[in-house]
Amino acid sequence: MPIGRGSATPAPAPPTMAFGLDGLPPLFARGADRLQCATDNWRKEMKDFNSIICGNSLEILKGVETGQIDLAITDPPYGVRYKDRTGRSVRNDDDLNAVLPVFAELYRAMRPNSFCISFYGWNRVDEFMRAWKDAGFTVAGHIVWTKDYSSRTGVVKYHHEQAYVLAKGRPQRPARPIADVQPWTRTGNRAHPTEKAVESLQPLIRAFSKRGDLVCDPFSGSGSTSVAAALSGRRYLGIELEEGYCAHARQRLAGVGRYLQTRTSKIAA
Ligand SMILES: C[S@@+](CC[C@H](N)C(=O)[O-])C[C@H]1O[C@@H](n2cnc3c(N)ncnc32)[C@H](O)[C@@H]1O
Repeated sequence: MPIGRGSATPAPAPPTMAFGLDGLPPLFARGADRLQCATDNWRKEMKDFNSIICGNSLEILKGVETGQIDLAITDPPYGVRYKDRTGRSVRNDDDLNAVLPVFAELYRAMRPNSFCISFYGWNRVDEFMRAWKDAGFTVAGHIVWTKDYSSRTGVVKYHHEQAYVLAKGRPQRPARPIADVQPWTRTGNRAHPTEKAVESLQPLIRAFSKRGDLVCDPFSGSGSTSVAAALSGRRYLGIELEEGYCAHARQRLAGVGRYLQTRTSKIAA
């Protein structure tokens, strides 16, 4: 049985004032050994939609009732056989066939008239675009993040990241649209070889969703999208294949939960 909105627990208390990420406590909880990946238990875990689910998002999303996701923000494998300087790679980055079909299931699970923001690899853009359009998305915008350092050198030096803003149906424009060129924050990729900064994702969440909305990242990695969502008073559903990254994301979110409980008066929606 798919799990619907009716079974969701209340959203986190709505934060009330402006905040910066400075001064946040480390987003790590003790007791990591007690955290388990939800492969066997994911339907139960998904009930409250504030979950990191460990598994293949193509399968996990089938358990989400149609129309439940209010905003998707995701950073899928780019299909470039990525390896960082220390040799770390990204699961399925050598096989877009294990990645692109997820977008059709994501589209189904999204609310009518909602947005999906997806990072992508510029050199596989034709395959990403075909998958997005086949799923039913239309293209609503494009965002570039500029880096003040070069992450690689090919025929040019790589100084940007990019994402498409995709629409299911005809969503309302954000009340306060953000610029389509954004500053990039470097993470150092300590927890994940392609870790995105919470600071890069939070403006998207604030512009394209509202308090209590469900934000889904089906390629969740270290959980940055879910952290940004939780800090903004949104519910989150992160899905990730690798158990180690799921455990790490849960640790971060446990830290966010404690932070929100003690500091809600300092946090803005
Ligand atoms: C580019 S990384 C995302 C990194 C993330 N943005 C972060 O800040 O840590 C893509 C992630 O998708 C995961 N992945 C690949 N195929 C998947 C699938 N079919 N279902 C769920 N996760 C998948 C990989 O293990 C990887 O961690």
